[in-house]
Amino acid sequence: MTASNDRVIIFDTTLRDGEQSPGCSMNLREKIEVARQLARLRVDVIEAGFPISSPGDFESVQRIAAEVGTLADAPIIAGLARAREGDIKCCAEAVAQASKPRIHTFLATSPIHMEYKLRKQPAEVLKMAVDMTAYARTFVEDVEFSLEDAGRTDWDFMCEIVAAVIEAGAGTVNIPDTVGYCQPEQYAARIAYIFEKVPAARNAIISVHCHDDLGLAVANSLAAVKAGARQVECTINGIGERAGNASLEEIAMNFVTRHDYWNLQTRIKSEEIYRTSRLVSDMTGQRVQANKAIVGANAFAHESGIHQDGMLKHAQTYEIMTPESVGWTGEGLVMGKHSGRHAFTTRVQALGYALTAEEIEKAFARFKEICDKKKEVYEDDLIALVDEVMYKGAAQAWQLESFHVVSGSDVKPTAEVVMSFNGEKRQAKAEGDGPVDAAFKAVDEIVGEYLHLVDFELDAVTEGEDALGRVMVRIQRKGGRTVKGRGTSTDVVLAAIKAYINALNSLHVQELIAAQRESGENEKVNTGV
Ligand code: KIV
Ligand code: ZN
Repeated sequence: MTASNDRVIIFDTTLRDGEQSPGCSMNLREKIEVARQLARLRVDVIEAGFPISSPGDFESVQRIAAEVGTLADAPIIAGLARAREGDIKCCAEAVAQASKPRIHTFLATSPIHMEYKLRKQPAEVLKMAVDMTAYARTFVEDVEFSLEDAGRTDWDFMCEIVAAVIEAGAGTVNIPDTVGYCQPEQYAARIAYIFEKVPAARNAIISVHCHDDLGLAVANSLAAVKAGARQVECTINGIGERAGNASLEEIAMNFVTRHDYWNLQTRIKSEEIYRTSRLVSDMTGQRVQANKAIVGANAFAHESGIHQDGMLKHAQTYEIMTPESVGWTGEGLVMGKHSGRHAFTTRVQALGYALTAEEIEKAFARFKEICDKKKEVYEDDLIALVDEVMYKGAAQAWQLESFHVVSGSDVKPTAEVVMSFNGEKRQAKAEGDGPVDAAFKAVDEIVGEYLHLVDFELDAVTEGEDALGRVMVRIQRKGGRTVKGRGTSTDVVLAAIKAYINALNSLHVQELIAAQRESGENEKVNTGV
């Protein structure tokens, strides 16, 4: 891919670097929803995953390539591959159906990585980089090569590799600050050095990929752009390994808000930023901090009297960009109990969700239930209930039939829960430290095992006494995997039980998939891996 000098390519790695970070994992359905929204946001490249890393990753990259990578005006769909033949072949297969497939291959080039991780001499690394770039080019035209830990790589060795991989066919060469160590001026100087020493770099795209360990990921990325880099790798809400990656929304809004300074364009549709941020937050279960630039709940809030007074007199006294420019429309009353199915469906679609007819029916039924309990239903309520329905997925072996809790300052909190497993009713009673703890213990009793509650988050979806409570839980089977679940209700105990059961169903589905894999039924997922 080439870019005119006044265009910056936005390479989104939310589904790869973001998703691989702790607590951010998404299932297939969630990844596809996020990829669709990234396409609406008009990112140039979606790095959809690391196909060799697991059959699940292979499948999600393949599905995103087929379903999102073939849309009109689709972004490039990239897959990550180590500089090894098996990885590259697998990646090529995963991205093959995209209209614009990319193989992104990487190899570490810093002294510490070469000596301790790769146990290879620089000359061997150089040869592997060249050979594997050329190998990747036998599958696709668009190959990106990353020098892992470039931020700590010897400058001349870095230039030697950049020149060699361009010669071998890489159209994009990425200079990652893998460990978030660089300082903006140093990093910019590194990029400038490449342009000075490698004439061919002018015919390729020099890309940057910065981690936020010292809180400098965005500053470093922008400094590199100043020095001539024309692709920025970033993630929604800045999620990613350790302290995360450069945040896409911050990078994009710098170019929009300070166009006078940058005079650079991206393809990003900024009005889709807020929605994308919220979707990624919902899908990963990772909340966005309130004071996060661009998408935090307080990013456009003016609390102090002086600021409010100024805002009333002239918005630009304290506002350098409008909330509307990032798609923040406020809570916005959506609809009420008299809204019909058609209006509901249209609204859900406008929010960017692609639900099946069956899911629409379920979501609409939930919407009517909520309308009976809540005077006003806001867009955030709608998103919460659509997420809940979507997140339930197909298999709902465990169902809540009824529950009853007793709690107070002078009684031992107790819960009685009735659930069914594939239609067969079971019930249990338990005591706990509070009504939610008692209810979870009763559920554990019914399930027949103690599940470790790793995380529990409760928040109000909107404001007001009748607000929906939304609970997100993470539970772990002893020595096993961690799954998340979510539930919403105007009753927070019910929301908590729903979230817990939702997570249980997720565990159940994963076990079914694992069993299928073992029996070979899912073998096609492994093709090429
Ligand atoms: O941080 C890093 O170096 C990476 C590469 C794989 C691009 O994520
Ligand atoms: Zn990274």
